[in-house]
Amino acid sequence: MGNFARLKGFTDLYGADLAVFTQMESTARLVFGKYCYQEIRPPILESTALFQRGIGEETDVVQKEMFSFTDRKGRPLTMRPEATAGVLRAAIELGLARDGQIARLFTTGPMFRYERPQKGRQRQFHQINCECLGTASPYADAEIIVMLLQYLQALGLKELSLKLNSLGCKKCRPGYLAALKEFLASRSDWCADCQRRIQTNPLRVLDCKQCQPLLANAPDMKDHLCEECREHFQKVLALLDESGISWTPDTHLVRGLDYYTRTAFEVVSGNIGAQTAVAGGGRYDGLPAQLGGPDIPGIGFACGMERLALLMETPGAKLPDFYIVSMDETARNTAFLLAEKLRKAGYTGEMNYQSASMKSMMRQVSRSGTRFCIVIGPDELARGMVTVKNMETGAQKPVEMERVVEELATV
Ligand code: HAM
Repeated sequence: MGNFARLKGFTDLYGADLAVFTQMESTARLVFGKYCYQEIRPPILESTALFQRGIGEETDVVQKEMFSFTDRKGRPLTMRPEATAGVLRAAIELGLARDGQIARLFTTGPMFRYERPQKGRQRQFHQINCECLGTASPYADAEIIVMLLQYLQALGLKELSLKLNSLGCKKCRPGYLAALKEFLASRSDWCADCQRRIQTNPLRVLDCKQCQPLLANAPDMKDHLCEECREHFQKVLALLDESGISWTPDTHLVRGLDYYTRTAFEVVSGNIGAQTAVAGGGRYDGLPAQLGGPDIPGIGFACGMERLALLMETPGAKLPDFYIVSMDETARNTAFLLAEKLRKAGYTGEMNYQSASMKSMMRQVSRSGTRFCIVIGPDELARGMVTVKNMETGAQKPVEMERVVEELATV
């Protein structure tokens, strides 16, 4: 394809791959609908400043991974690398979480991050994303986590584990950060990336794969949580326990985006290669105000659809019910009207648009995978009849034109 081949890290979704995606979307509508989530579709393109402010200047996403450019008037724009910032911007503009209202929103669509592509990691990937705005209640945390797990279960996914942490709030995090910085400064053998992170974003050292062996004695966030954060987290955990959900504490779970406060969580799978997180999220109580909106709390998550797809069974292709073969132009006209009648009756199917040898037309019919082949030739047409062949059994019989819908219904 020379210059026009698709870009590295971008995919053409089609056929069975796309069927899995549409199944994820329709299941999302079903499951999230039960929890009163409303769908929202913010634009893919937003001002770059929204992501710098929302996700955080020092994150890898903002520093290295955004597809950003200036438009014809020199305005800096970015193809969204995640959905949360855009959903919150939209909720603020639409006034969705005003006057103590709770806004429950979900969205799905493509996200863009300039990362090194590998299994489960793409430059254009898709998320199913939920946000619950306007409440700090631990019931909301537990509810959204239970909903996520219900969703994954409805997709037929098993062998997933839930990891949980609390990242504290603006009151207790500074104390923890000071202790962490002191610990990080006590040795100098951190990897090159972490040497930089120690200055810019020390929390991220905690989830660096390479530096894990050096972190065994790192201070633990849970020892630094203030009373409110501790109680909040304990209530969330108790509600999950009461709901029969198993979880693993992970004090190194810090997430890659800067907006998180208190509850942070990830769902991971051991069966999809190096990129193990199929979903991640958490609370972000300061974010709406930081984006110029009301000072309300919020919590949300996103699932990576490509990663879920790696774990899902491909649904069987939906095969057509009929294929009408017309032998000449006059029969074709009748075929056209009969095809419409069958579709109105709920059947799926197609017809040939031009004549060819019977052999070649029958090859087309078999290739379509149809259940019934309906043949209309000049003789049949003169008698107001068609021939209906059941492709599964091979049995065929003449049927009155007026009775074809009933004939298909009998099988
Ligand atoms: P995130 O952890 O950056 O969180 O992404 C969520 C999920 O998106 C990941 O767990 C992963 O499954 C998938 N994902 C991320 N990057 C890629 C990629 N390059 N290729 C394929 N899949 C990928 C967020 O995006 C937050 N906005 C989630 C959130 C919503 N937090 C609160 N509300």
